[in-house]
Amino acid sequence: MDKKIAVMGSGYVGLVAGTCLADLGAQVTLFDVDEEKVAQLRRGKIPIYEPGLEDILSPAVESGNLNFTTNEAEALTGQDGIIIAVGTPKRADGSCDIQYVLSAAEMIGANIESDTVVINKSTVPVGTGELVYKQVNSALEERSDTEAKVEVVSNPEFLREGSAVGDFMEPDRVIVGSEDGSACDFTAELYSSLDCPVLKTGLRTAEMIKYASNAFLATKISFINEISNVCEMVGADVVEVAEGMGLDHRINRDFLGAGIGYGGSCFPKDTEALVEIAGQAGYQSQILNSVIGVNHAQRKRFARKIVSTLPEEEDLQVGALGVAFKPETDDMREAPSIDIIHDLQAEGIEVSAYDPIAMENARQVIRDVDWAESPEEALRGMDALILFTEWDEFLELDYKKVKEWLKRPVIFDGRNCLPMEELIEMGFDYYGVGRGIDRLDEILSYRYLFAEPKEKD
Ligand code: UGA
Repeated sequence: MDKKIAVMGSGYVGLVAGTCLADLGAQVTLFDVDEEKVAQLRRGKIPIYEPGLEDILSPAVESGNLNFTTNEAEALTGQDGIIIAVGTPKRADGSCDIQYVLSAAEMIGANIESDTVVINKSTVPVGTGELVYKQVNSALEERSDTEAKVEVVSNPEFLREGSAVGDFMEPDRVIVGSEDGSACDFTAELYSSLDCPVLKTGLRTAEMIKYASNAFLATKISFINEISNVCEMVGADVVEVAEGMGLDHRINRDFLGAGIGYGGSCFPKDTEALVEIAGQAGYQSQILNSVIGVNHAQRKRFARKIVSTLPEEEDLQVGALGVAFKPETDDMREAPSIDIIHDLQAEGIEVSAYDPIAMENARQVIRDVDWAESPEEALRGMDALILFTEWDEFLELDYKKVKEWLKRPVIFDGRNCLPMEELIEMGFDYYGVGRGIDRLDEILSYRYLFAEPKEKD
């Protein structure tokens, strides 16, 4: 591939996409305003934890395919395409803040010297592509030194933190949306060596595909979490329910993992933004508001389960395994552990915690936790083990030893990832999410089956 591409923003999406495109043979210049970050990247130091990224970053730099700069003119002139991959944070009202996208557009208009395809990868409300087009053109109009023109493409990103490199290199699909066919073709060619379908759509449709995809996955999670709550009430096991449902290829097992709900920088932000987008357009989303509500309630419910299960004693202490919003990341944004730990502390329960890599970030957002250097240190002498993140390290622990470390053999598994039967056999009191076992005695009476029908008013 002989294309010259600039990537604006060396955050999570920009860094992964830029490095992967360089690996695929494009000439990539990564631009960021953060001088410290760029200096680190030049030295091969990656500011995020992303497995596999380092392995392709150093060779891309050495081959000359990947360069970093803080100089906008150097980054933006002479490129065939410019990718916008800057942050779109959530505003207080849940809407999406696109100011950095528009600043990037203005910078493009102020610097390009020849026709360029502007490719937006940031997650933005439907219609933002047109605003980008306008913003670039109004900056171009202020100049008399160029006849350069742009076309705007929406090329949303579907990477997951922790498996981003694999997701980029083996995508389920690539979406390119533009009102200009040749700009679509240009963008599609960037991915031509990958074995996946490429769907070409209009600009607004591509922007919507991103939101609809994330919102649907969040819906699957909240749906199975709601089912898990019913499972608890009626003595069914949600893990097997999900397995049984997932065998239907129309449903599919993925993202039917019941637990303490979704966190991270995407699902919480994008579901709220889509509610806001729909609202602005005059449509009140009923499903998405419920998805968000169930996700919030799931955290509260888990905290309540812990508090009501542990004995009513003073000086209770619990040990938490994992705090990141999911494994293979140090990201703490919207991690369910934050709310749950704070709820436990509000009940007077002390918390110690261990996470393989997220503790540095966790210290900034979780108060008054005793941070441990190992699972053993987090669990020794504790009244219960609470698992928030399903790191492999925790699945591989020797639970005979864990039982010796704990003061009480009680496990609250917020991700249903530990071997329930084995642990119960070993003498643990095991509480998962939606597995019914904790209320078995009560359920065995099948009160709800034999209850007299309520009299109608
Ligand atoms: C998500 C999407 O999966 C990506 O396709 C998308 O590109 C990305 O957002 C984005 O918009 O940038 P990510 O937030 O990295 O990726 O993480 P996921 O693996 O999707 O997990 C999100 C949350 O859902 C985690 O807290 C995870 O624990 C939770 N989850 C996931 C469940 O509770 N149950 C499941 O079955 C699956």
